[in-house]
Amino acid sequence: MRVSGLLHLLALIFCLVITWVFVRSYINFNMKTNRLPRWMGDCSVPSPASRLVKTKCGLSKSCPDNFFAFKISSGAANVVGPSMCFEGQTIMSPVKNNVGRGLNIALVNGTTGKVMTQKYFDMYSGDASLLVKFLKEIPEGMLVLVASYDDPGTKMNDEIRKLFSNLGSTYAKQLGFRDSWIFLGARDLNSKSPFEEFLKNNPDVNKYDGWPELLELEGCVPQKVY
Ligand SMILES: *[C@@H]1O[C@H](CO)[C@@H](O)[C@H](O)[C@H]1NC(C)=O
Repeated sequence: MRVSGLLHLLALIFCLVITWVFVRSYINFNMKTNRLPRWMGDCSVPSPASRLVKTKCGLSKSCPDNFFAFKISSGAANVVGPSMCFEGQTIMSPVKNNVGRGLNIALVNGTTGKVMTQKYFDMYSGDASLLVKFLKEIPEGMLVLVASYDDPGTKMNDEIRKLFSNLGSTYAKQLGFRDSWIFLGARDLNSKSPFEEFLKNNPDVNKYDGWPELLELEGCVPQKVY
């Protein structure tokens, strides 16, 4: 009886010790899991949000050195004006209140990236000869950014088409009533610009009743080095 009583006691102590060990390790485990987030927080692991690098003009990828970042959006129907961003600066937009229906054009020095001119030309009821004069007087080495709004086509003529083609445009030849068009060219470009988008006004496929969808184009344009 005494021996079995002692065994019982030992068994009880053994059970208590095991339980104690389990409880200890369970508490430790809990403390560790509780501390874990704080420990991770102390460690300066950057959160996904802070790891995102802010690019100029909100481009999906940063431009290499010696390239300028740009983003051009055409107008949406006759409701929302176009916008242009160059090297992180909004240079034409409805908020800046320097856009208008027709063709919106900005001139940028291709070497320095300095914005020289922002102008819009009414192509529905305006005087087309103003745009002819403007395009003929673009100085050497200038980048030319263009965004349509509402109607870029009614007053379009062959002389203007030719001048835009000389700046590297492919679609100026066929630009017509209420087409959407965005373009980046240059005064002394000897080839077609890769930076151009065009949507014909087509009632069968138009996104809006009387207008095609707005266009958006972003990219990196090489700085002109002399
Ligand atoms: C563009 O900038 C360069 C460098 O400052 C200058 O030499 C050139 O004359 C500028 N072009 C125009 C048309 O202003």
